[in-house]
Amino acid sequence: MKRELLIERLSKSGDGVAQVEGRAVFIAGALSGERVLAEVDESARAMRGELLEVLAPSPARRVPSCPVADRCGGCDWMHLHEDTQLTEKEEIVLSTLEHMGDVDRGSFELLPFVRSPEVLGYRRRATLHPVSGALGFHGKKSHDRVVVTRCPALTPPVADFPARLAAHFGANTLKELEELRLLECDGRVALSLHFRAQIRPRHRELVELAVRDGMIDGAILQPGDGKGASEIIGDPVLEEEGVLHRPDGFAQANAAVNRRLVSQAVELLHLQGGERVLELYSGNGNFTFRVAPSVAQVMAVESSALSVALAQKAALKRGVGNVRFMQGDSEKIAAGLVRESERFDRLLVDPPRTGAPGVGAWASGLLVKRVVYVACDPVSLARDARELIEKGYRPLALQLFDLFPQTHHVEAVMAFSR
Ligand SMILES: C[S@@+](CC[C@H](N)C(=O)[O-])C[C@H]1O[C@@H](n2cnc3c(N)ncnc32)[C@H](O)[C@@H]1O
Repeated sequence: MKRELLIERLSKSGDGVAQVEGRAVFIAGALSGERVLAEVDESARAMRGELLEVLAPSPARRVPSCPVADRCGGCDWMHLHEDTQLTEKEEIVLSTLEHMGDVDRGSFELLPFVRSPEVLGYRRRATLHPVSGALGFHGKKSHDRVVVTRCPALTPPVADFPARLAAHFGANTLKELEELRLLECDGRVALSLHFRAQIRPRHRELVELAVRDGMIDGAILQPGDGKGASEIIGDPVLEEEGVLHRPDGFAQANAAVNRRLVSQAVELLHLQGGERVLELYSGNGNFTFRVAPSVAQVMAVESSALSVALAQKAALKRGVGNVRFMQGDSEKIAAGLVRESERFDRLLVDPPRTGAPGVGAWASGLLVKRVVYVACDPVSLARDARELIEKGYRPLALQLFDLFPQTHHVEAVMAFSR
């Protein structure tokens, strides 16, 4: 049914929220304060509306600079001015902490939002999908794919890689690809090619040619399930600030803001020297190598075997001897450490979107004095903050980082002490 609606706020997933007879309706593309015309599906439990027309636009609305912004699923807030992106992100995190975590916004210090020095050209990694003989991203509607030639969010060395890679590999090889991951660090580029079936000689030849021509430094070729072993061509291990990365593993997307994220998280740990630190979800050692020089020992727990291997290799290269890397499930390992009556002075967690349920019990069981929680999902942060508070921790400070300009995504670091 067509409805004229007033958008009250933006939701945690970046959509405009209006009310229809006391029920919330979510409208992608609408902005706070706008009056819009929308087609609303009132039968669904979570009501969604399709934006038909903006009747009274927000002063913060603008024409997106990317020609595919209205269809591409990548930059969902490109039509919103950057300053307002930040105020909306801040409100999303603070209100989620209040409503879902019972954490009052006045109960901790809110440190200044860390902006991204580049609001475009900041993304060093991307996952591309074959689409009609070209490469592209997932569309706004989840099953659509949108052809991309140049992506302005990607860092300058790889911004035109969607078109360059599509031209290099050609339609026949693209058809045989499930997805292609791209990573750029300090001007070096690596790919991870995930094929639907087995790796063919033509695939190897094309990757070898891309390495020889200097388009990329290396690649990992991954066959479909049960279709053989993965192969490496060239050197797909990239280094930035002494941390090693591969395109088939995790890397923070925005290198410049990541540097600030790491230094602020370390500062919030309030290290005096001599501490024993437990770091959960440690990845390739992004935080680990900044914490290690200031403390007695770090125990770094990570589930990905690739990430642990890269972190161990970097530790050897850097001569870091006070980190114990453990591959496994953080929840099981933390619970095991509590059972064994281990003690840690600090706990640093940087979980995936699902958060770290159990973090309150681990922190209190290990007699941790200070917890620093790095979050990419405000809902998980709110739930886990509540748990920490229930276990006697006090929220000290919150800082937000604009790791993903032009999107509704926001990174948060929150410190707690007991
Ligand atoms: C948000 S990333 C952070 C990685 C790292 N701290 C960084 O800054 O690059 C989350 C990490 O948690 C790891 N992970 C996911 N589930 C896990 C689990 N149950 N136990 C341990 N690690 C896990 C992922 O492999 C990923 O490396």
